[in-house]
Amino acid sequence: MAYLGIDLGTSGLRALLVSDTGQPLGATERHYDAAHPQSGWSEQDPADWITALEGAVAELGAAHPEFAGLRGIGVSGHMHGATLLDASGAVIRPCILWNDTRSHAEAARLDATEGVRALSGNIVFPGFTAPKLEWVRAHEPENFARIDKVLLPTAYLNHYLTGAFFADMSDSAGTSWLDTGARDWSEELLAAGHMRRDQMPALVEGSEAGGTLRPDLAARWGVNASVVVAGGAGDNAAAACGIGTMNEGQGFVSLGTSGVLLAARDGYHPAPETALHTFCHAVPERWYQMGVMLSATDSLNWLARITGTTPAELTAPLGEALQAPGRVRFLPYLSGERTPHNDAGIRGSFTGLGADTTRDDMARAVLEGVAFGLRDSQRALEATGLRLERLLAIGGGARSRYWLKLIATVLDVTLELPAGGEFGAALGAARLGMVAAGEASVSEVMTAPEISEEIAPEPALTEAFDEAYTRFRAAYGPTREIQ
Ligand code: XUL
Repeated sequence: MAYLGIDLGTSGLRALLVSDTGQPLGATERHYDAAHPQSGWSEQDPADWITALEGAVAELGAAHPEFAGLRGIGVSGHMHGATLLDASGAVIRPCILWNDTRSHAEAARLDATEGVRALSGNIVFPGFTAPKLEWVRAHEPENFARIDKVLLPTAYLNHYLTGAFFADMSDSAGTSWLDTGARDWSEELLAAGHMRRDQMPALVEGSEAGGTLRPDLAARWGVNASVVVAGGAGDNAAAACGIGTMNEGQGFVSLGTSGVLLAARDGYHPAPETALHTFCHAVPERWYQMGVMLSATDSLNWLARITGTTPAELTAPLGEALQAPGRVRFLPYLSGERTPHNDAGIRGSFTGLGADTTRDDMARAVLEGVAFGLRDSQRALEATGLRLERLLAIGGGARSRYWLKLIATVLDVTLELPAGGEFGAALGAARLGMVAAGEASVSEVMTAPEISEEIAPEPALTEAFDEAYTRFRAAYGPTREIQ
C-alpha cells in the first residue's frame, strides 16, 4: 500500500510517495512561475498546476511499482488564492495568489466591518481570499457575475482529483469567510464579502476523506478506483502535520518564499487585534497561530537574481561562524508585509551602504533583515503568552547554516533540524491521506522527526543583535508605494 502527498507550492509542485508506515519511497518536483502583471500583483494559471501534477504523478508511477497500490492522497497548497470557476467548471481568470496585495483597500473596508475580526479570528489581510473577491466584484464585474464556485488552490486540486467540491478547515480559515472557532462558513462573513454558501466547497477536516479519485484518472494512473482523497491542508498546517507540530508547546520556523513562525494550540485563542494569524489546524479540535512575513527566501532570491548569481552562492562565502550585525540594513518588505505591520504599501530598502560595501555585506544584511522579521512574529506570539524555547527549522532557507545560527541568536531559541532531510508539507499531506484512508490515527502518524542537529544561539552576540533589532524596528516606514 502507498500514499501520495502533493504540495502545491508557490514556485513548484512536490509529490511524495510514502509506504504504509509513512516512509518516503520517492519524490519529485515540477516548477512553474507566478506572473506579476503589475506591481503588487501575483497570479498563476491553474492549468500549470495540473500539468505539474500530471507530470509528477507519471514520473512517480513509472519509477515506483508501489504506486499501483495507492490507497490515499492528501493535497497541501499555498493558501488564500482565489480560483474562480463558472457553472461549467471552467477557470474564469488566473488565480490571484496569497502574496498579491492589489486588494488592500477592499481588505481595509472588510476589516473595519463590525463583527468580521471577531468571527474570523483574524485581521482581513489583503492577501486573504475575501478581499480578492471584493476586488473582482469592483474591477471585473463580468467575471464576478460568472462565479459558481471559489476554490483555494488545494481545493482546486481536490476537485481535479475527485470531481467533488470540498476544502479543509485549515485552508478555509484563511479566507475571512470562515468562523474559525466554530469551524464552519459564517453567513455573516459571506454576506459581508458578497458571497453565498453555495459558492463555497463543502467543509471537511483535513484528515477526513473528502472524496475518491475520479475513475478516469485511476484508470490512466494504473491504480485502484477506491483511492481516498483527504480534505488536505493549507501548506503551513500540512508542514506542521509533516513534522508532528500538533500540540501546545510545539512550533517551527519555516524559511520558504514566505517566512513563518508557527505554534500549535490545543484551543482557540484568537488575537485579531494583532497581525498574528489564528487558523484551524488540519486535524479536529486543534488550531495554530503564526506570524507570516511575505518575503523570506524570496528576498534572497531577489538579490541573487539582480546580482546574476544563486542564493547558495550568496550565502556560501559567509561560512558558518556568526558575525556581529553588519552596518548595512535591509528591510525585507519586497511585497509589503503582514506580521507585524499589516502594510501592503511598504516596500523594502537597503540603508547604510558605503563605497566599501560588498555583495557579501548585502547578502548578510538580507539574512539579518529576514531574521529580524521573524523576531517580529516571535514578539507577536509572545504577546499572547506563548514562549517557545525550541523550534524545528524547515524550508529551503534552512539549508544555510549561517542563516540558522543567525535566526537562533536573533530569536534566542534552539533550532532543531529534522534528520534525513525534510519533506515538509508533502509529507504532512501524505499523512493526511493515510489517516483519511483509515490506515492510522492522527496521533499514530503525525509524529515528530528524529533531530539530526541542534543549533544554539550565540550568547556572545545576543546583545549586539538585540540592539540591531531595535534599529531595524525604528527603520520601518520610509519607502511606501501605496499612500
Ligand atoms: C500563510 C501564507 C503563506 C502561503 C504560502 O498565511 O500566506 O505562508 O501559504 O506559503
